[in-house]
Amino acid sequence: MPVQIKETFLGKCGAGAEWWRNAVIYQIYPRSFADSNGDGIGDLVGISSKLSYLSSLGIDAIWLSPFYRSPQLDGGYDIADYCDVDPLFGTMDDFDRMLRQAHDKGIKVIIDLVPNHTSSAHNWFQSALKTPMGSAERNRYHFRDGKGENGELPPNQWKSIFGGDAWSRIPGETQWYLHLFDSSQPDLNWDNPEVRAEFEDILRFWLKRGVDGFRVDVAHALVKESGLPDWDGPIKEGSGINFGPMWDQEGVHDIYRSWNRVLKQFSGDRMLVAEAWVQPQSRLARYVRNDEMHQAFNFDYLLARWDAIALKEVINTSLAAGAHVGAPTTWVMSNHDTVRHTSRYGLSEPGSRPLGIDASREQPDEALGLRRARAAALLTHALPGSVYIYQGEELGLPEHTTLDAAHRQDPSFFRTNGLEIGRDGCRVPIPWISGEVSYGFSTAGKSWLPQPESFSRYGADLQHGDSQSTLELYRQLLKLRRDYELGNGTLTWLPSAQGVLYFENGPIRIVINLNDMATVLPGGQVLISSAPIDQAGVLPANAAAWLK
Ligand code: GLC
Ligand code: CA
Repeated sequence: MPVQIKETFLGKCGAGAEWWRNAVIYQIYPRSFADSNGDGIGDLVGISSKLSYLSSLGIDAIWLSPFYRSPQLDGGYDIADYCDVDPLFGTMDDFDRMLRQAHDKGIKVIIDLVPNHTSSAHNWFQSALKTPMGSAERNRYHFRDGKGENGELPPNQWKSIFGGDAWSRIPGETQWYLHLFDSSQPDLNWDNPEVRAEFEDILRFWLKRGVDGFRVDVAHALVKESGLPDWDGPIKEGSGINFGPMWDQEGVHDIYRSWNRVLKQFSGDRMLVAEAWVQPQSRLARYVRNDEMHQAFNFDYLLARWDAIALKEVINTSLAAGAHVGAPTTWVMSNHDTVRHTSRYGLSEPGSRPLGIDASREQPDEALGLRRARAAALLTHALPGSVYIYQGEELGLPEHTTLDAAHRQDPSFFRTNGLEIGRDGCRVPIPWISGEVSYGFSTAGKSWLPQPESFSRYGADLQHGDSQSTLELYRQLLKLRRDYELGNGTLTWLPSAQGVLYFENGPIRIVINLNDMATVLPGGQVLISSAPIDQAGVLPANAAAWLK
């Protein structure tokens, strides 16, 4: 029996049996998932058409990025009407049908809630523009007089996350409004009770329709330090972590406590998951105290390099932080804001997080990246807690790393004058059928972003039924994870060679070889491996196996 060398971590954290504690949740970026009406943009009917595929993958829930009425200046994270479907994605009937069909298949549905800002096309902002300074309408946002003789300078030095100033001036006025993101995304004033009441109504609107939860966009930004004090330091690190008086203020927690109370008024275990780019993990854990949200994305795990020591450290810290407040940890490797991890793992600094990749930058090693991503999947799915999969990850999809600037749409590309390549490369439509135009994404062969030639090697149709494929690897992993209840399990580290992670969860032992050379597996039956294992029991470089 191997010796236990580290603490043991309980996945259940001693708490209840709510579905989200160990759920595998699949993120859909609707415009890039499946297009049913041939306009080159994915839609709700397209999502319905893929529910059987999702069900056969073995997931518990889907999270949909925004599909609400929006000018689409930030991929729908600029919302003009929170309680309506944008015609681009279909109708409210399409939504209700999709929700019902998902529920019929036992799949829960989480939707995106964007409370930090509205679109500038939202009625509230439009009426704010029409009323004078000091009006109740303007008090729903952060309007301030500019500095300088005629108000020609912004009210403070805050910068936008997408580049440039965080303030825009109203033409012909001394007043400016705050936007931590694009100028089309004015920040709401969460000190205003009307804003709070409105969002509780929005929650109720969707809870009544039957959604199972909300992913809360920039959950750490809603409340700003009072007086909006000057801050000339950076507001984000290259990695994505945020700093300054606009982030992670104590006041946000009251909002989540009140939302928790709203959710409790509905039957079923409705949930909230925080997108909060804060560090350290102990700060993140404060969002998931038992009267607040239920989960928070674990970006420290996403940001960890392909390095055994770093990964072990982040796993330990995350499990301990979650356990401290009785919340499950989430394990996230990719999302719609980040270069796909298959490509990040193929960089010379494997796992680093560039803000987009174009043809002028280092091109990832596609095969090596995929090899490591498959091994990383064996790590992720063996950990206690909840797992997030970003659409296409189960196909081993790489980033589009040579997308032409002419096609780019991400505001961060434009606001930084191309310094940040932006997020379009991870938002390219999914290849469903390798041999077809648009790889089967659209019924008319169209695609709102061009797909790279490499996608011909990743079609879901090619992978279906091929035991060596990444799709079948994910299907097996999800099944084994469920059969052995690993999401509710306990992690115990076992002694291992340098560059190798080795732990036990329930009856399963997991070995991940992060080295560039092979290692000998400990004894036992191999249940699944990310690369072929020979008869001598040698685990190749950058590969992983589950043993029983
Ligand atoms: C979040 C979203 C991102 C969006 C931003 C502004 O970070 O994930 O896609 O651009 O918020 O809403
Ligand atoms: Ca469409």
